[in-house]
Amino acid sequence: MGKRQRLVNENVGFISDILLLNFSVVTSHLGAGKNRSIFHRVVHEWKGMGIERFCYPPKPPICSWFAAFILLICISLGSACNIVHCQSLFSSAKDAEKSTEIKKLAALQRESPRCISLRTYIDCLVKQKRFCHSDITFNGNLAGLKAKMYRHKCSADPEASIFDQETMQVTGPRPPSVDRMCSYSGQPIYKQCGLFGDPHLRMFNEEFQTCKVEGAWALVDNKHLTVQVTNDPVINSGDATATSKLTVIIKKNEDCASSQFITYTAQTGHLPGSFSLGQTHYGPERSVEIIEKEPGKSVVIYLRYIDTTIKVQQIGRYFTFAIKMPEEVLNSSEISDKLELCVQGCPNNERINYKQYFSEVQRTNKHSKMALSKALKMCRDASVVDFYFDSCVFDLLTTGDENFTAAAYQAWQDLIELNPELRQTQDNRTELPIVPSSASSEKTKFWYSSRILLLSVLLCVLLSIPS
Ligand SMILES: *[C@@H]1O[C@H](CO)[C@@H](O)[C@H](O)[C@H]1NC(C)=O
Ligand SMILES: *[C@@H]1O[C@H](CO)[C@@H](O)[C@H](O)[C@H]1NC(C)=O
Ligand SMILES: *[C@@H]1O[C@H](CO)[C@@H](O)[C@H](O)[C@H]1NC(C)=O
Repeated sequence: MGKRQRLVNENVGFISDILLLNFSVVTSHLGAGKNRSIFHRVVHEWKGMGIERFCYPPKPPICSWFAAFILLICISLGSACNIVHCQSLFSSAKDAEKSTEIKKLAALQRESPRCISLRTYIDCLVKQKRFCHSDITFNGNLAGLKAKMYRHKCSADPEASIFDQETMQVTGPRPPSVDRMCSYSGQPIYKQCGLFGDPHLRMFNEEFQTCKVEGAWALVDNKHLTVQVTNDPVINSGDATATSKLTVIIKKNEDCASSQFITYTAQTGHLPGSFSLGQTHYGPERSVEIIEKEPGKSVVIYLRYIDTTIKVQQIGRYFTFAIKMPEEVLNSSEISDKLELCVQGCPNNERINYKQYFSEVQRTNKHSKMALSKALKMCRDASVVDFYFDSCVFDLLTTGDENFTAAAYQAWQDLIELNPELRQTQDNRTELPIVPSSASSEKTKFWYSSRILLLSVLLCVLLSIPS
């Protein structure tokens, strides 16, 4: 009796050993990316050679039966733990690391693009945890990935971006969760404004203007922030002006920013990566933050509590500026009687009718610092279209400074980065706009004078008729 009991115990202990052994073998084969048919073959091999070797006392039938039964369970459990999918997602993410989109996102999160791939892998594995919690490969991978995240100094922000295979794009920073402090929770409808070149303005209402606006002007001036630019004459170029100084003032906000104004100032040749007092963030959980995307060339300021992004870049000697703000915040924070170029546009006497200038240059080919044909070619090569094409040509003609080509291109890129939907708002035009006004005015002038002539002839005839 006692002996038999011991035998059963031994069997049970042995069976549980087999169970563990098989389970890890089966699942690690799965984990290594083998498909089902290979997997079955492996199972059969085991049944033929392996079990007999491990069964002691030799070949009690119960052992084989149990093993077969357990293997079946393992098959069903194992097939549910599908980490192959995560591995392929990871390799797609790695392939996408060189894309500018991912690079930008990583820079925004102050980490390397590899972090986004690693995070994607972890995210995918964690979703499989229910099926894989006892899989050695699974657990090994997870631990290894976490160590790599640490080595790469990846952001620990739970909101940080991951790679999304479906769209083959990175899902941007996820919308802030409601319980996060100082997060905007209003309507997600946004408006964009931008200023670049000799200054060309894209207003919040999607209107485009080219202006003189020499001196200091406010682009945005509301209850939350002020953005002021100083436009100076471009060296050696008559009337042209361009932005050489830019100041952002973030107004007092005890809860989410600072109990004092926060200022940021950039001047030609000096685009700092921090606010004026040297800090790079304010408020709880960095609700105000400045991110240096390229030292001395490009910074982004983000205000989380009003979900507002400001981009400033220096190209050549001058700045390009772009801002994205929720419409709701704009509507509610206006201060009456303040001139904001982004809202009201340039005053009439500051506007430049660049179409007229083009027709003048086309007619006389004078008053330009660069040949029209060269300017047209350069701007076509820069792949800017529509208003940005006009701006590019205009700036080259008025200044001869080739850096303005890059400014027009960058201004357009900034805007579609802030809102990719804007891509559709521009047409493909890379010809100068036709100026119907001057042609038609010539026609009307002619029409008018011929009428006057006719009238006077009639009058003469009438008068000359003896009464
Ligand atoms: C254009 O930009 C480059 C690089 O920023 C600079 O070295 C060069 O002086 C600029 N050209 C002019 C005319 O300002
Ligand atoms: C903002 O104001 C404009 C004009 O008054 C209005 O059409 C728009 O619906 C408002 N938007 C929001 C989000 O309140
Ligand atoms: C713009 O050009 C691209 C290729 O040159 C073309 O695929 C696209 O349909 C064009 N879009 C418009 C609005 O003409």
